Amino acid sequence: MADDTTLRHIAVIMDGNGRWAQKKGLPRVAGHRKGAEVVKEITRAAGELGVEFLTLYAFSTENWKRSQDEVSSLMGLLRQYLKSDLKEIQDNGVRIRFIGEREMLDADIVKMMNKLERDTVGNTKMTLCIALSYGSRQEIVNAAQKIAMLVKRGDISPEDVDVKMFSDMLYTRDMPDPDLIIRTSGEQRISNYLLWQAAYSEFFFTPTFWPDFNKTELEAIIKNFSSRERRYGKN
Ligand code: FPP
Repeated sequence: MADDTTLRHIAVIMDGNGRWAQKKGLPRVAGHRKGAEVVKEITRAAGELGVEFLTLYAFSTENWKRSQDEVSSLMGLLRQYLKSDLKEIQDNGVRIRFIGEREMLDADIVKMMNKLERDTVGNTKMTLCIALSYGSRQEIVNAAQKIAMLVKRGDISPEDVDVKMFSDMLYTRDMPDPDLIIRTSGEQRISNYLLWQAAYSEFFFTPTFWPDFNKTELEAIIKNFSSRERRYGKN
């Protein structure tokens, strides 16, 4: 188990793109566009700061309920990001992986995701994990279904089910749990993000809208994290 000051994995809920745009009298998509630039800046910064895993909540299963216009702008930005931005990230030795329900996404997007994962599997500088069409309850339900199937087939018995086995059935199977979860924009909730994995995570909520987030603020949050005492239920 990690000690108090170990910071291997940061997960981020990138919130506030819409409000950032509204404040400036711009369409919501302008906020997402600026948000996508910040994704690049923060990924680079995390690598420079020695973070091993960075998980970004790019699109939740609930986001499908947004207007068709907004969903297609987000998918457009995503295509662009997968095509060009991630290429640069990949060339910098970053392993890229995705968590979420791929069946919901367009086939061309899934194809690019699979290729990026395959092409970067040997990269060791940092892992960038993008949560796309991701919902944590569904992830947990999927894990329960897989385990139920193993029991039904007689491969395991109910007593064999433990925390490790359950964790191994999640999308995040080979990743450490997040040490720190950051949410921007002043909202203070978890929004169906990494519910299982967040059991002992530290939380940091900042009022900054995601498009205004930057490396300096990330560094300040990391400094705050290192002053916290993590007890994992011990005294
Ligand atoms: C929240 O802002 C943000 C999202 C819906 C997802 C994050 C998307 C990006 C950062 C842009 C695209 C990302 C990639 C990886 C290309 P919001 O619309 O909920 O803001 P609001 O709460 O102010 O309305």
